Amino acid sequence: MGCGDGRLCWRGSVSVNAMGSDFFALAQRTALRQGGCVSSTAIVSASDENYKDAVQAAVAQLRAGEVVALPTETVYGLAGNAFDAQAVAKIFSAKERPSFDPLIVHVATRADLSRVAIIPEEIQATVDKLLNAFWPGPLTLVLPKHPDVPDLVTSGLDTVAVRQSASKIFRAIGKELGEPLAAPSANRFGRISPTSAAAVQQELDGRIPLIVDGGACSEGLESTIIHITAGEKRPTITILRPGPITKEMLQNFGKVERPKRVRDGSAPTAPGMLPSHYAPRTPLILLEDPSDFRPELGKKYGLLSYTGEPGKGYVSLHRWAAVEALSPGNGKLPEAALRLFHLLRKLDAAGLDVIVAEPVSEVGLGVAVMDRLRRAATAL
Ligand code: TXA
Ligand code: MG
Repeated sequence: MGCGDGRLCWRGSVSVNAMGSDFFALAQRTALRQGGCVSSTAIVSASDENYKDAVQAAVAQLRAGEVVALPTETVYGLAGNAFDAQAVAKIFSAKERPSFDPLIVHVATRADLSRVAIIPEEIQATVDKLLNAFWPGPLTLVLPKHPDVPDLVTSGLDTVAVRQSASKIFRAIGKELGEPLAAPSANRFGRISPTSAAAVQQELDGRIPLIVDGGACSEGLESTIIHITAGEKRPTITILRPGPITKEMLQNFGKVERPKRVRDGSAPTAPGMLPSHYAPRTPLILLEDPSDFRPELGKKYGLLSYTGEPGKGYVSLHRWAAVEALSPGNGKLPEAALRLFHLLRKLDAAGLDVIVAEPVSEVGLGVAVMDRLRRAATAL
């Protein structure tokens, strides 16, 4: 459906809410009426000279109940005032995100944590230690929700996912607004998370009024999401989504576990565990063993290699139409993580029939890289 100016624009309703609550439907209808369609998306630079103007421009939109794309250290987020249910509904609608998938709330200061979550006594000490070690930064905690947080943010769950971003401009905007910001990744649902303002534009142009361009993200993968339970001797830290804060980094703070994988198509046992996600439009095969490769005649295959070197034989396996290396030469996992989404986007735009991805070693950050590749591949 169009915006009236020839631009394609989404106006459909967000999929059925999991709660059956009239509140959801009302908030979503209001958002569609008020903000389902934006004729043009402005991009404001957050360079040093323009920093204050960028903060003011974003805060003005947020105060008016709008949503804006903002840089974080992980990926770009689509932010709205977390206490404004109508703004939150606009996030769901711009992303075409189903209402059963809850949002992360970003606090500008640690003091703001108590405005959105209630920390149980028995895990308070562990939470404090984790926040001292990793905030501001790419660690999201799932905690019991404060009643003031709209149900729409948490998809009706009694828990809320919270983090404090390490991005200076993201925190400055939150501080100036004076409210926590609900912000999922600034991509359409199920698609590749954006790690640059240009990638946000590809995803959401014409759907949101403003993108703040803070340059490329420094981590490139979404935050690690954890849930903490008190144990008899040590607390248990469950990693709901692997990310830049690795299992190895969390092990000092408790017993670290991964939940069982959810089967494709089944209802998620915990949100954030949807099996199909981060998917390019081009089909992607995660080729764990190069000897399994059976190319079809006439099809154009591109390779997402780890190092770009002949190595285990991926580069020399086929006459690839395109080859991109996650970490050229030596294969460094932080570089691979940083470049993953950018290169997936690049290969997706290369006119290929299939993207073949080489696995990386599943240790440290490699766990998060493999998690994203598996989810991109299950979308086939
Ligand atoms: O790095 C990040 O985390 C980025 C930046 C923008 O902060 N945000 C991000 O948000 O990745 P999003 O919405 O794309 O992913 C958040 C994930 C979702 O998969 C959601 O299901 C999960 O967090 N989540 C949110 N609230 C939850 C809760 N209460 N319990 C379990 N999972 C939750
Ligand atoms: Mg996302």
